[in-house]
Amino acid sequence: MSTDQTAFTQDELLASHPYAEPLIAGGVRCHGGFDADGHYVSPRTKYRWPAIRAWQAQHQAQFGTALLDVPLDAFPEHYPSVPQAKFLLQQGVKLPLSLTLTRIGTVEGFGAGIRTVNLPDLQACFVEEIAGTAMAHLGQGLYEAHARDEAGFEDEGGHKQMWFAARDVALEEQPSEEQVREMMARQGGSGVVGAPPTPEQVAKIRAEMMANRMLPDDIDFALEAAIIRMTRLLLIELVAYLSFAWAEELLSDTELVAGEGEAARLVSYVRADEAPHVAYLKCALSEMRDRTFRGTSGRTYAGADMVGHIWQRLTHQFLATSRLDRRNSAYATILQGLQGHPRRDTILEEFHALGQVQLTPDGVWSDEVAAQTAGR
Ligand SMILES: [Fe+2]
Ligand SMILES: [Fe+2]
Repeated sequence: MSTDQTAFTQDELLASHPYAEPLIAGGVRCHGGFDADGHYVSPRTKYRWPAIRAWQAQHQAQFGTALLDVPLDAFPEHYPSVPQAKFLLQQGVKLPLSLTLTRIGTVEGFGAGIRTVNLPDLQACFVEEIAGTAMAHLGQGLYEAHARDEAGFEDEGGHKQMWFAARDVALEEQPSEEQVREMMARQGGSGVVGAPPTPEQVAKIRAEMMANRMLPDDIDFALEAAIIRMTRLLLIELVAYLSFAWAEELLSDTELVAGEGEAARLVSYVRADEAPHVAYLKCALSEMRDRTFRGTSGRTYAGADMVGHIWQRLTHQFLATSRLDRRNSAYATILQGLQGHPRRDTILEEFHALGQVQLTPDGVWSDEVAAQTAGR
């Protein structure tokens, strides 16, 4: 294959390498597999990775700009920290981690919805040519590959099944359906993914977005909605990157979890599979940012203003408000796991002492108190 190829068929973007060994996790045949040397190879990357590299190179050659990014250190440290989570395991408190891994797997499964993203006629939305770009392939394989990676496809498990297998091998126990329901019912705040929206909720969200447009009315609403969706997806992928690194570190402690490192290995495969998701989203958003938007009236707008506006608003919201929602949600799961524990208060005290942030007696996080005081 020529390295200059920038146009790919959906079948190519969905094609996997031949594997010497399949990946079996928890008795379930999963996607991906191992090459002859025993190295894990992510599914559907035979052409997808070369394609992403070619689009990145083409973008660099055409525009010479850096790809859009948000530095990972802009995101707060995972809560609870690795020492805090290890402490709970040392105390024999497994339920919070078991619930957390169940939530991650469940939310990964919601990724199936990515294939339903509605896209406008993208070429009509931009002045410049879009052939041979990542954005031109969103609906031609990229979203479909992403959805399959997260939720599994046909008889092959995906990340959903891999997380459940990691949980089962590491903790040798599962939360009850009732416990999972209780945890999932708490989700749904901004930045915390709950259940996928119902068709009625989708219609309501759409109506609200149309009433509060971020871009000029002249820009096709479907394009605005697609950019918002991609930006949110990218931010979720980046937060996931950090929490998966946390999980891998925690699960690699063979003294504290069962399975001799199997769970951590499964998470490392998931992490490898996530890399193309982050890469194609950054590339497609950057291609839009560096082009000229064409409104329905024919008027033109700088892509940097359009994508930049959405990007700034959503990253700010995600890093500020949602950060606390995610932490509160994680803390609620820890409290749930300690329900009825005879040493609950002593364990919580030591747990907080091990963290970067503590909960004050008023129920406010220490870093929030500091931020409020600084703002006075
Ligand atoms: Fe995933
Ligand atoms: Fe992903």
